[in-house]
Order: sequence, then C-alpha cells, then structure tokens
Amino acid sequence: MENTNQIDTFNLSKVEKYDLLFTYWQGLADSEVDWISNTSNAAALLKEIFGWWWVGFYRVYNNQLILGPFQGPSACTKIEYGKGVCGKTWEIKQSIVVPNVHEFEGHIACSSLSNSEIVIPIWKNDAIWGVLDIDSVEYSKFNEIDQLNLENFTNILSKYL
Ligand code: SME
Repeated sequence: MENTNQIDTFNLSKVEKYDLLFTYWQGLADSEVDWISNTSNAAALLKEIFGWWWVGFYRVYNNQLILGPFQGPSACTKIEYGKGVCGKTWEIKQSIVVPNVHEFEGHIACSSLSNSEIVIPIWKNDAIWGVLDIDSVEYSKFNEIDQLNLENFTNILSKYL
C-alpha cells in the first residue's frame, strides 16, 4: 500500500479527491482488526487527501458521544445527546452542513479556528454508532458533494466497525 502523503492532491477537484478516497480505502480497510484501527486510518486518509483542519470520530457510548480517533488539534472528549452539531446530528439522525459555525446555535467550539463544519451520522445495525465530524478553517467549505460522498464513505466504513 502506497503512502497517501506521496500523492499530490493539490490540483485535484473535490470529486477527484473523493475518487481517491474510495480507491485508497479499498486497500486500507481491514476486517481483521477493530473499529479503533479502521477509524484511525479513515481519519488519517481524509486528513491527508483533503487537508481539512480537524477530522475525527465520536462514538455513542453510555448515552454520550465519546471522542474517538481523530487528526487535528485536541478536542472535547464528551458531547451530550442533542448538544452541538455532533449531538444534534445524533438526535436528528441526519447529516448537518454548517457554512458558518458561529451562526449555529449551541455549536461547541473545540477549536476557535474552525469556521465551517460537516457532521455525518454513522449507522450500524440500524442504530447510530457515532458520527464523523469534519471542521474547516474556511467558511462554507462543505456542500452536497461532500455530504453525499461522506455518507457513502461512512456506509462503507460501517462494515469495519
Ligand atoms: N463542533 C462540534 C464539537 C466537536 S469539535 O468540532 C471537534 C460540535 O458542535 O458538536
């Protein structure tokens, strides 16, 4: 498996980057190891291909979202049901795209440098397993192309959790 940081993604379009993500994930996904290994590699791959500010996972555990593997600055370890963008995603069971986090009521600012965010619910056995949370320092970084592709990605990832 080639190391992804040897690939120059600078000139690639968003769609081409997602194509790369799915191609590389086929080589990385490992059904012989647990969710920690697979979400760790997923976070690394997303960070390397897209260069976002923060990419990580929160897992539902004891009625809270608990911080899992991530890439980026240190982050809040626990999020309550319905709180912040992550807790709201868990509650409504749908992806949330936030063009400007400062306008999202109840947004939890783990990093003051984040300006836009997307959170995708992760399903496993017909229940919410957790969420994929991605932050950008740029405003309006995420759109429906990201939502669609990241929902497809988490559906595939779900088989390795
Ligand atoms: N902003 C998130 C909290 C997690 S950090 O962004 C890593 C939220 O409002 O739920």
